[in-house]
Amino acid sequence: MRILNIFILMFVFALLGCKKEGDNTSGNTSSGSAIAFVTTQDGAPLTIKTELFDTPSAKEFLSTGKNTYVGNAEAIEKGKKLFQLYSCTQCHGPDARGQVGPSLIGPDYRYPKDATNKGMFETVWHGTNGGMGAKGKGLMDTTDPENGLTPDELLKIIAWIRSHGAETGNS
Ligand code: HEC
Repeated sequence: MRILNIFILMFVFALLGCKKEGDNTSGNTSSGSAIAFVTTQDGAPLTIKTELFDTPSAKEFLSTGKNTYVGNAEAIEKGKKLFQLYSCTQCHGPDARGQVGPSLIGPDYRYPKDATNKGMFETVWHGTNGGMGAKGKGLMDTTDPENGLTPDELLKIIAWIRSHGAETGNS
């Protein structure tokens, strides 16, 4: 009799377990598996088209907020070139230690969230109110926000910036 009770209990728990799992799955599908971006200006939701995340690293970043290029020598080298190509150099200096704009090496940032790769990505993608337009362009730049710098390129630039300091920004 006792053994039968135990079996019944196990059966009930198994049923409960299944139900819980099912609920979670449906929850995930409705919310999607992407991280939620916010603007650095005021924390408002920032929508970036998912199609722009078109490489394995960009996709990984979109779903986890982790920048897999940090510590990757090849990506860092590319990031250095992109930092020059997109004129970041002009304001932040060739070594990212500051010129007209602030140093990007940390650990102290104007926007503390820039210590994380997600935070720095948002700051560069959407700009700030204090002198840097979206993607580092001038504030009066009216070009299509989807042109120019891509998420994958920005992740490489961030990997290069991180290569100067002790922090990876991935924690
Ligand atoms: C026209 C000059 C200019 C260009 C070009 C520019 N920036 Fe900036 N950037 C600034 C200024 C000025 C600030 C400080 C903004 C503020 O205080 O709100 C800043 C801030 C930042 C910050 C935040 C630093 C912190 O301490 O929180 C990051 C990160 C950054 N820039 C990265 C970039 C990258 C990457 C590029 C190239 C894609 C770029 N910037 C291009 C002028 C520029």
